[in-house]
Amino acid sequence: MFTTTLRQSPLTQRPELPRDLFTAIQRLKKELNAVVLAHYYQESEIQDVADYIGDSLELARRAASTTADAIVFAGVHFMAETAKILNPDKLVLLPDLDAGCSLADSCPPAAFAEFKAAYPDHVVVSYINCSAAIKAMSDIICTSSNAVKIVNQIPQYQPIIFAPDRNLGRYVAAQTGRDLVIWQGACIVHENFSEKKIVQLKIIHPQAEVIAHPECEPPVLSHADFIGSTSALLNYCQQSASREFIVATEPGIIHQMQRREPQKRFIPAPPISNCACNECPYMRLNTMEKLYLAMKNRTPEIILPEATRLAAWQPIQRMLAMSV
Ligand code: 13P
Ligand code: SF4
Repeated sequence: MFTTTLRQSPLTQRPELPRDLFTAIQRLKKELNAVVLAHYYQESEIQDVADYIGDSLELARRAASTTADAIVFAGVHFMAETAKILNPDKLVLLPDLDAGCSLADSCPPAAFAEFKAAYPDHVVVSYINCSAAIKAMSDIICTSSNAVKIVNQIPQYQPIIFAPDRNLGRYVAAQTGRDLVIWQGACIVHENFSEKKIVQLKIIHPQAEVIAHPECEPPVLSHADFIGSTSALLNYCQQSASREFIVATEPGIIHQMQRREPQKRFIPAPPISNCACNECPYMRLNTMEKLYLAMKNRTPEIILPEATRLAAWQPIQRMLAMSV
């Protein structure tokens, strides 16, 4: 009895929290007729209890096609917001409303409106990692898995603003040969991987392939054997004959890599300082306890002004149509 008490976290000692959160969440899914969507950067237990795990595009597609009455988004705010934009009549829950995104925050709507006004003949392609207000000012949304495909479908004569990620923007410009006007935002997680430490790891593990998310800075990307969205990185690890990978993205995804390829070794790329800042502090705000409480109390709920939702819906629909 004493041992059990010691193992309990302060949250699980609260009377409203069941001991077996996994089973309690499964029961609530049925009660609410809810679907739980989780991003690969969520903690392992959340990934295991989710109905679907995916990258931003896959989760947006799931949100667009679900017949559930409620969508519980184990991810960050812009992802849950996208689900709400696509499903105005459904209950959309986010376990922690503070689960934001540094990249989305790096593009404030008023400043972006001024920036956009300086390029009146440009179409605006915005990475899905932005607020509903920015989506509402955009022509087409993209994710890291379809950005190149989408930009390639825009006529050559048409000038383009790309927002808000400067690293994805630079990567897309290089891949498509287009001269993009890029908003200078970045992700605090992906700009923090250390090129020096990655090179040191490559010396220790000469057979390892470096795989990186396009939100990483160019010096890190220059060492990558493969660059892609979280799902693309996962697929690459399965297809590659290599046995070792240095993974330059949020290490939450290593849970799925290890599950799919238990014989292979996945080494998280280290951040510049000796901190845990390769973990996304926003994604990690969600916990099993908060997921359970959100479903039990049907809050926090995503609510959007209808005018913003409608304006943001069109560019998301264009993305879905252009990335089939
Ligand atoms: P993906 O679309 O590759 O899952 O990326 C989401 C994200 O937030 C990366 O930081
Ligand atoms: Fe945003 Fe970066 Fe976290 Fe992705 S990893 S949700 S871009 S802060």
